[in-house]
Amino acid sequence: MKAIIIGFGFIGKRLIEVLNQKISLLKRIDRSFKVIGVSDSRGYIFNPDGLDLKVLSKISGTHEYSRYFHEGSSLDLIEEGDADIMVEATPTNIKDGEPGLTYIRRALSIGMDVVTANKGPLVVAFRELKRLAESRGCHLRFEGAVAGAMPIFSLINECLQGDKIIKISGILNGTTNFILSKMHFEGSTFEMALKEAQERGITEKDPSYDVDGIDAACKVVILANALMDRDVRFEDVERVGIRGISPEAINLAKRANYTIKLIGVIDRNLEVAPKLVPLNHPLCVHGTLNALHIETDLAKELTIIGYGAGKETVSAIMNDIISVMKGRLAGQSSLTQS
Ligand SMILES: NC(=O)c1ccc[n+]([C@@H]2O[C@H](COP(=O)([O-])OP(=O)(O)OC[C@H]3O[C@@H](n4cnc5c(N)ncnc54)[C@H](OP(=O)(O)O)[C@@H]3O)[C@@H](O)[C@H]2O)c1
Repeated sequence: MKAIIIGFGFIGKRLIEVLNQKISLLKRIDRSFKVIGVSDSRGYIFNPDGLDLKVLSKISGTHEYSRYFHEGSSLDLIEEGDADIMVEATPTNIKDGEPGLTYIRRALSIGMDVVTANKGPLVVAFRELKRLAESRGCHLRFEGAVAGAMPIFSLINECLQGDKIIKISGILNGTTNFILSKMHFEGSTFEMALKEAQERGITEKDPSYDVDGIDAACKVVILANALMDRDVRFEDVERVGIRGISPEAINLAKRANYTIKLIGVIDRNLEVAPKLVPLNHPLCVHGTLNALHIETDLAKELTIIGYGAGKETVSAIMNDIISVMKGRLAGQSSLTQS
């Protein structure tokens, strides 16, 4: 299997490191596995015989691998590379899904399996991409795009196949959980806690994506469309952020054995809003952790807790890559995570 990686930033680089560390695991599944191309915004590196993962692990931009560097665009790599699978990790853009949307459309339309960590294309065009993948008999997997390392799509699609999903709710943004945890445990104001989150580099470039619930609302849209067969858009999510949460509100909640968390809810309604959560509820996790509570007709209630972003996300991407490899070997066609 020949792989290309589009986007060589935090996630793309960490993925290369892990592929290098775990190459024997991948080769045991498919001896022919190799990474033949990697791109960023400057250009791409391409070697049809496979790039040296050790060299790739040590460079910080594609232009540094001058032997195989081309100044062309990622689309050139997708179209000319003849890869079997594309891992897409370009920046999220929820306005029009670009540049990832164009890359994913193109890869699927020429029969390439796709693994993406990018919410943008899924928020903007989930149905279209799902149909395109199905019509081309391709896999489209996106475990890393929602809740980082937490295997929410695999859990529901593979372990709850006989269940009807009634409701999914939970903490979908680690930055707001960090801020609210600081307010709960240390009595910080919202402004102080946000400043600390920014100093630690855990906010989005524009922190309103976190604190106004935009990031969580995108995840609500993807979960609703992929797991509950909805056809909803970002505008369909009722959204209130955490800017208005005062230390007094946190203290009042605390005295009654509750805390306040920014919770995304997917049932008949779609919502992101601060909610009172009992201190002994499974969703009451702190720091940058995420948590998802799933309610179904048969299993009734399940909660998963984990890292919703950061380098741990590569766990989800690796599982997606391996699932695609195994699916191909088993001759499966068209498997979207829904
Ligand atoms: N970081 C996380 O913890 C995390 C967790 C889950 C999901 N994600 C998602 O994963 C994706 C990647 O995140 P990241 O943190 O790795 O971002 P990042 O560090 O900003 O890296 C983005 C990469 O995409 C490249 N790029 C930008 N525009 C491009 C274009 N038009 N064509 C090709 N490549 C382009 C950048 O190249 P240059 O460096 O040359 O600009 C860079 O290599 C995002 O969609 C993000 O939301 C991230």
